[in-house]
Amino acid sequence: MSHRPQVTFARIATPAKGAVVVLAADGMGLGEAARTCNPDGALERAAKINDFKGALAATLDVVAPSGTDFDRLVAVGAGKPAELKEEAWLRIGGVAFAASRKSASVSVVLDLPDTDISADDAANVGLGILLRSYAFDKYKTKKSDGEDGKKPKPARFTILCADPAGAKRAFEDLEGVGEGVLLARELVNEPANVLGPVEFADRAAKLESLGVKIEILGEKEMKKLGMGALLGVAQGSAKPPRLVVMQWNGGKAKDKPIAFIGKGVVFDSGGISIKPAASMEDMKGDMAGAAAVTGLMHALAARKAKANVIGIIGLVENMLDGTAQRPGDIVTSMSGQTIEVINTDAEGRLVLADALWYCNERFEPRFMIDLATLTGAVLVALGNVHAGLFSNDDDLSEKLLSAGLSTGEKLWRLPLGPDYDKMIESKNADMKNVGGRHAGSITAAQFLKRFVKDTPWAHLDIAGTGMASPSSDINQSWASGFGVRLLDRLVAENFEK
Ligand code: BES
Ligand code: MN
Ligand code: ZN
Repeated sequence: MSHRPQVTFARIATPAKGAVVVLAADGMGLGEAARTCNPDGALERAAKINDFKGALAATLDVVAPSGTDFDRLVAVGAGKPAELKEEAWLRIGGVAFAASRKSASVSVVLDLPDTDISADDAANVGLGILLRSYAFDKYKTKKSDGEDGKKPKPARFTILCADPAGAKRAFEDLEGVGEGVLLARELVNEPANVLGPVEFADRAAKLESLGVKIEILGEKEMKKLGMGALLGVAQGSAKPPRLVVMQWNGGKAKDKPIAFIGKGVVFDSGGISIKPAASMEDMKGDMAGAAAVTGLMHALAARKAKANVIGIIGLVENMLDGTAQRPGDIVTSMSGQTIEVINTDAEGRLVLADALWYCNERFEPRFMIDLATLTGAVLVALGNVHAGLFSNDDDLSEKLLSAGLSTGEKLWRLPLGPDYDKMIESKNADMKNVGGRHAGSITAAQFLKRFVKDTPWAHLDIAGTGMASPSSDINQSWASGFGVRLLDRLVAENFEK
């Protein structure tokens, strides 16, 4: 994992040296402390020449400003202060990190005219710094942006704010969440020659050090349980499958657990129904659902969430081979329901069918939420802006949608219904694994629904949001870690009281 910046909090003061970041409201409104960092009015002059007006997350950079010993003075736009929400503070942290790249020591001065900046706001700036700092560069033997071809040392960030003690307390929890996001990104970015099912399970097992209980099921155990759907996908790969069960028991012993289930196809070639070559390399990220569940368990354990939470991930590789599953094969899932495999590239639902059933039978959870890079069709419908939400429960859906709005990991609900369910009926078995060209994301969700009985359940199709993400103020890496902040918030807001 890339070097993390160190983030601390202190009282508002005028820094002596290093890089200094101040906020500028719409129309170049500087707070009192910001003005003391800008003795010669360099920011105003630079703003004029650069058309900088303080728009949210815009930056203005003055190198070695006269009248100071600063490396640089950076103004970060805060837009209209009354409209600043959680996501905006994250973005401000992200651009503050990017703008001060070359300095070893950075002070971020959080003040704005006529604006109360809370401890939570300051902590979110810290999280934004952490999220933006991540780069997947472990396989680059030449580190280009440091001196002498070496990687630059991680910077120390001091966030100067009104309530540093409160901000520090809030950041302790957020840091755990941020680490969970970075863990998820790292797992998604890793190529499949490095991260197979066994290696992924080993990394998940490291959560034991945070107090997460880990069980790893191998082929033999899964065969005994009758997981014919998951095992059918795995059978063409030289890499054996794993099912990892993670348990965080931070709630009361009598509380029923809540459960998160992730699709972990470490590489999806399509199998015998092979994918075209273009962009096939992206299918190393077909385990983004499992990565999000693992990152979430890290986050919850790191901040000692007061809830009982199960995380289950189905880890397989979908390959072509003489032993691979064929189109037309009929497999029997753990539920006893039979499935005709029309297309071996619709493999994620086969993995999830057994993982969901196992979870429901063993734990009888209050609800199940699965995450999966399940269909290309969700990209057609929603692009990489919203993840698709499918659910049998309006209340759970509302809670998820609301967590999405506050974290910026947005969801859009799509329908389910008997007319869609009909589309996966099979002549030869209880169901088939594809529903035809139309409504591809919905028929995939409809398939999963057959494995959850009446348990409240939601399915998040993250094929568009989990990977190949456009660069943003808080993420520059291919993998986004989508789902970790969203689900951590869902738990914190609804299931820890
Ligand atoms: N992993 C893919 C879905 C995917 C596509 C994820 C693009 C991320 C980006 C999934 O296993 C798949 O291949 N789905 C098929 C389903 C089809 C065969 C019914 C698809 O979407 O084409
Ligand atoms: Mn596939
Ligand atoms: Zn897949």
